[in-house]
Amino acid sequence: MKESRQAQRKDEHLSLATKYYERAHGDHPFDQVRLVHTALPETAVAEINTSTELAPGISLTVPFYLEAMTGGSKRAMQVNRQLARLAARHQLAMATGSVSVALKDPAVRDSFTVVREENPTGVIIANLSASATVDQARSAVRMLDADALELHLNAAQELVMPEGDRSFHWLTNISKLVDALDVPVIVKEVGFGMNKGDVTRLSQAGVQVVNVSGRGGTNFAMIEDRRNHSTDFSLLYGWGQSTPEALLEARAAKSKLGVIASGGITSPLDVVKAGVLGAQACGVAGYFLNILIKEGSDALEQTVTDWTRVITHLLALLGVNDYAGLANAAYVLSPELLNYVSQRGLE
Ligand code: FNR
Repeated sequence: MKESRQAQRKDEHLSLATKYYERAHGDHPFDQVRLVHTALPETAVAEINTSTELAPGISLTVPFYLEAMTGGSKRAMQVNRQLARLAARHQLAMATGSVSVALKDPAVRDSFTVVREENPTGVIIANLSASATVDQARSAVRMLDADALELHLNAAQELVMPEGDRSFHWLTNISKLVDALDVPVIVKEVGFGMNKGDVTRLSQAGVQVVNVSGRGGTNFAMIEDRRNHSTDFSLLYGWGQSTPEALLEARAAKSKLGVIASGGITSPLDVVKAGVLGAQACGVAGYFLNILIKEGSDALEQTVTDWTRVITHLLALLGVNDYAGLANAAYVLSPELLNYVSQRGLE
């Protein structure tokens, strides 16, 4: 049977996210953050606790998780099944791709619900557009028995898509969704970052957690542009705040919001640096997807095992006993990043 246009689009995202994935366009943004070594850590690996809080009432045993990617086609179902098995074995939280396609077409529901079947007791996060209705949001949470809901903000992506949305009045709706749902709502970007004012406005709207999802990894301006070719949008390939910039923006908002990092998280050192810049957890999408598709699920499993061990070692090296404690660790910014901080008045 021929798959729908929506399903084709989901498959194209998977293909293009691996075809065009590069660790960095230019420099890797996290290279602009250096951690200051201490010769006296005064701790031991056995004393390190890697657990952290994803959102109020949701704790994670490790500070990284499988970020929102897919669902809505047969291939997406295979990917979700493999990711969910890994999540279950390693107690990783996992977000699905946007569930909206399954709300419209029940035939593709199982490409999402497989995530819960494979991982009955794990932390699962549903995902929808910030323009979703309350009914859609409740259905998405119910469909996956989700522990939290991510609402994505993706204006740049939509504008590059000929068939994309052209209206981005989201804030009032987000506030309504936060009030109506009984699971935490995480508002996330999709790889273009956020700024200080965004974080302040989301906090005022009642949101408890943001995922700044910055530039530096998967590039949806490029992915959608390569899908279409109708209008040349290559001028947006470098658009947005890098993840370190977006984390510094979020921290400067001085809100009570929880902050998650995603966008270009490609190593355990990035996870640690994100924690130093104020993240309470890190979502990893493109990097893990590339390993899964190019090297297979055993390779991804090994990567997850390695990351967990190396993060523990890095915390010990820094003399920090838990992930939240990283927020007090010493660091130095590159001249370029310091210039960003200074021009934006983020000190
Ligand atoms: C995504 N991402 C995404 N985000 C979202 O909120 N809803 C979605 O449906 C999707 N779909 C999706 C598909 C694929 C194939 C990829 C690789 C990514 C975006 C993702 O969650 C994340 O915000 C960005 O990819 C940046 O993180 P990485 O990829 O640099 O780790």
